[in-house]
Amino acid sequence: VLVHELPTPALVVDLDRFDANVATMAARWPGTRLRPHVKAFKSTALARRLHDAGHTAFCCATVREVEGMAAAGLGDDLLLANEVVGPAAERLGAVARSGAARVTAAVDSDATVDAAAAAGITEVLIDVDCGLPRCGCDPADAGRLADRARRLGMAVRGVMGYEGHLMRADGATKQDDVAAAGAVVRAALAETGGDVVSGGGTGTWDLNDWATELQAGSYCLMDTEYVDHSPAFATALTLQATVVSSRPAWGVLDAGLKALGMDHGDPTVVGGDCWFVSDEHLTFGWGEAGRLAVGTPVRVVPAHVDPTVAYHERMHVVRGEEVVDQWPVDLRGW
Ligand SMILES: Cc1ncc(COP(=O)(O)O)c(C=O)c1O
Repeated sequence: VLVHELPTPALVVDLDRFDANVATMAARWPGTRLRPHVKAFKSTALARRLHDAGHTAFCCATVREVEGMAAAGLGDDLLLANEVVGPAAERLGAVARSGAARVTAAVDSDATVDAAAAAGITEVLIDVDCGLPRCGCDPADAGRLADRARRLGMAVRGVMGYEGHLMRADGATKQDDVAAAGAVVRAALAETGGDVVSGGGTGTWDLNDWATELQAGSYCLMDTEYVDHSPAFATALTLQATVVSSRPAWGVLDAGLKALGMDHGDPTVVGGDCWFVSDEHLTFGWGEAGRLAVGTPVRVVPAHVDPTVAYHERMHVVRGEEVVDQWPVDLRGW
């Protein structure tokens, strides 16, 4: 099958670009120095390729991702890099207790420490706020939370600090800001004990010198928004679409908001000019090639990889024009 013969809209991964991205990252963060974040691709088939490349430990953002990775035999060392309570914590504990995976939970409060212990989770990282106003405790509270976790019978592997506010920073202070975030996280480690410092991502892969393991995910597939900030990695994910209406000044593709993550802006139409996107359509101005006939295949490059992938059931893997594999997006949902 050739790529333009796929039913559209179809997510397409360029295997050579993907492999190059994986190799570039592995040269700086080899083996378990990298803890790839599966949230960016939600596919055990893709994760298995990273595992085969030596990256055997993974980050997950949802319990569903942990469950799916464990069921696929990719549970050597799974970190839920996110806080959970209630039924979600219980499900995470069930994976840990089943022995299907080594499970570590991020915790940042009494409630999440207690929920982890009650669920039978035995290992945690203390999640520390290093500048992103999201999860992560006050660094001054990290030692106390670690003591509480140990009192409840859990092992504290170390700390997590995700400097997400700096992934897309480009200014002259980026290096210093990443270092300052690292100083906060490292100081917290001195209070918590343990030897893991988990943090970083695609946007700080070449600046973060304080994480013992980098949590990058987007680098595998990339998108038009991220590639400006981390140009070492190439956009490997595109959406194959078809012209379904052709007018003198514009064309319409059969791919809209329900096939494209749009929170980072408009996608890029290869050979055209994206005007706007609606539920099931993308309207674009003709490029240099001029007006295209109804039925013409057109490639679109997404602006945000994570939500784009999550809209699809599978990725079609291509080498050149030939479809050589299919990777189910089997870790969707929560
Ligand atoms: C906790 C955490 N770690 C790491 C990442 C890094 O991901 P990326 O490589 O996409 O920047 C993310 C992305 O949002 C995240 O939420």
